[in-house]
Parts: sequence; structure tokens; C-alpha cells
Amino acid sequence: MFQQDLIGWFEAEQRDLPWRKDKDPYKVWVSEIMLQQTRVDTVIPYFLRFIEQFPTIQALSTAEEDRVLKAWEGLGYYSRARNLQSAVKEVHENYGGIVPDDPKEISTLKGVGPYTAGAILSIAYGIPEPAVDGNVMRVLSRILLIWDDIAKASSRKIFEEAVRRLISHENPSYFNQALMELGALICTPTSPSCLLCPVREHCQAFQEGSQNELPIKTKNKKHRHVQIAAAVLRNDEGKILIHKRPEKGLLANLWEFPNIEVALPFVNEKDQLKEAVKDLYKADIQIGGMIGQIEHVFSHLTWNINAYEGKIQSIEMESKELKLVTIEEMKEFTFSVSHQKMMKQYFEGDE
Ligand code: ADE
Repeated sequence: MFQQDLIGWFEAEQRDLPWRKDKDPYKVWVSEIMLQQTRVDTVIPYFLRFIEQFPTIQALSTAEEDRVLKAWEGLGYYSRARNLQSAVKEVHENYGGIVPDDPKEISTLKGVGPYTAGAILSIAYGIPEPAVDGNVMRVLSRILLIWDDIAKASSRKIFEEAVRRLISHENPSYFNQALMELGALICTPTSPSCLLCPVREHCQAFQEGSQNELPIKTKNKKHRHVQIAAAVLRNDEGKILIHKRPEKGLLANLWEFPNIEVALPFVNEKDQLKEAVKDLYKADIQIGGMIGQIEHVFSHLTWNINAYEGKIQSIEMESKELKLVTIEEMKEFTFSVSHQKMMKQYFEGDE
């Protein structure tokens, strides 16, 4: 029987992952949020450090947002961390610190979509709710021969209905985790290992040889490329100018080096950056040589950054969003990954 074959395989072959050690709904929640858009190998050390720093709902709900972002630094998609903290605060304040076990209630929490809700309910509470993400859709599209386009938002419902029909009521936790594990280890996006698959006999795509054509997934919308010029600027004392991004939008509230989107095709980008720094920060600067080039890919956007070094000749004032800091102090601020890379290139060039 399908459920037994699937769960039996998971019992024997599951990876030893830190969030599988207990069923604490808070830990399951943190792990599922981190695992969205990020690989298991990357998540493991972040998860361990995060849980060490914020071991409970109480600890996370009372933590400074800056500390939470610092713990998330490098994982990307920082709104995940902000939403997680605000939802955890809500659980602390309105649910007595207990993660709700009701599908409707849990779904009202910030950042908890149908996938995360289903994952927490099934893994932590043993409730037979579907937890369907892109990986689960891939696996099920093959097993059940579903040709709907998984890039379409409306398709998820079709897969959730399929899970509702199939899910084990004795062990919904293992059933859902086994689908995820199968997607990670066997039923991979390209060249699935069908000969090793524990549910091959139940797989309709394998039977007709169409496993490599599934799932159907149309390309996502237009991806933009943006040219950026940025600079590590230091004053006479060696202090470095850093700037906090706005509280809304991409990489909100993270720190970065002064930078601009290069907009004017016929003006030297160093001159454009110098002008912008003058306008925005009331600082006179001189830009020197290039320290490196960085490409950073977001889901909808790619940044191509040309990074320079430079000197600050004068600056009018600092503010909450604009600071001159020592190298030591800079470590306390959370930077986006691309600007961390810039920092690294700058100091490697220095030595
Ligand atoms: N991907 C999403 N959730 C996961 C989990 N709980 N274990 C492993 N991989 C996952």
C-alpha cells in the first residue's frame, strides 16, 4: 500500500536533521520558515544557532529585532525573519505562548501560509493537514500524473486535495515529511532516481515513462537585471560610512555601503555615485579603484554590483540611518549578503 511503502521508507532512510529531534511546534515552525527558499545544508547551522539564541516563543518574542536579523544574516529573504518574530509575538500575547493547533487560527499568523500551517499541524500536532510546497507538487505530479502547471497559484489546491485523499491518518507527520524527503533524495527535479524509489510501483509517471516531463512548470515573470555602483568609503580616522535601507521593500532595514542604481548610460558611474552621495548624505567623497564585481541573484532580480573604494573628505552629519563606524563596530550591523561579499573583497584587497 502506498502510505505504508512511503512511511516505511522514511522510517528507514530519513536524514538525521536537528529539527527532527523533537516535536516542539516552535522549532518545527522556525525550521519550516528557514527551509522555504533555502537548502537543508545551509539551514542546519542557522537553525542550531537560532534555537540556541532564541530557544522559546518567549525568548524570540522579547528579542530585539536587530538581534533576530543578525541571526538571520546570510540566509536571505529577511521578511521571513520579521514575519516570524511578529507572529511569535502574537502567539506569546494572544495565545498564551502556545502555537494554535487549529488550521484557521494558525493561518492568521503573519508569514504562515498554507504550506507552513500544514507542516506545523502535521509534524508537531499529528493533524492530517496537507503541506504542499513546490517539492511536494513535483513528487505528486509524477506519482498521480497531474499535468496542471505548478507555477500557477491555483494548482496548489489540486495537490492539497490529492493529499487529503492520500494522507495517513495514523501518521500524518511522517506522511508529509516522507513526501518532502522523497523530493529531496529520490524524486529530484532533474533525473529522478526511479530505480531506488520506494513507491515506484505506485508511480503513474514511471509506469508510462513520463517522469522527466513532469512537473509542468512555466517560467516565472520577467527577471530584471540592475547595474549598481557601490563604495566602501572611509574618513581620515579609517571609519567606514554605512547606510540603513528603508523599512519597507527589498532587504528592508538591512545595512549597506552607499550605492546607486546606475541609471544614466553616458555618465561615468563613479561620477553618478559621487553626485548621489553628495545629494543624499551631504558628503564630499573621492572614489578610487575598483575592489571587485559582485553578482547577486534574487528571485525576481539580479544585481550586478561594481564595488569601489574611496575617501570621505567631509560629511555634514550622521543619523539613525547613516553612520560612520569602525571595522569592529561594523560587525554588529546586519548586512545583506552582497554587501557582506563586498566587505570581504575590500579587506582581502587590503591585506
Ligand atoms: N523541506 C521543507 N521542510 C522540510 C523538512 N521538515 N525536512 C527536510 N526538508 C524540508
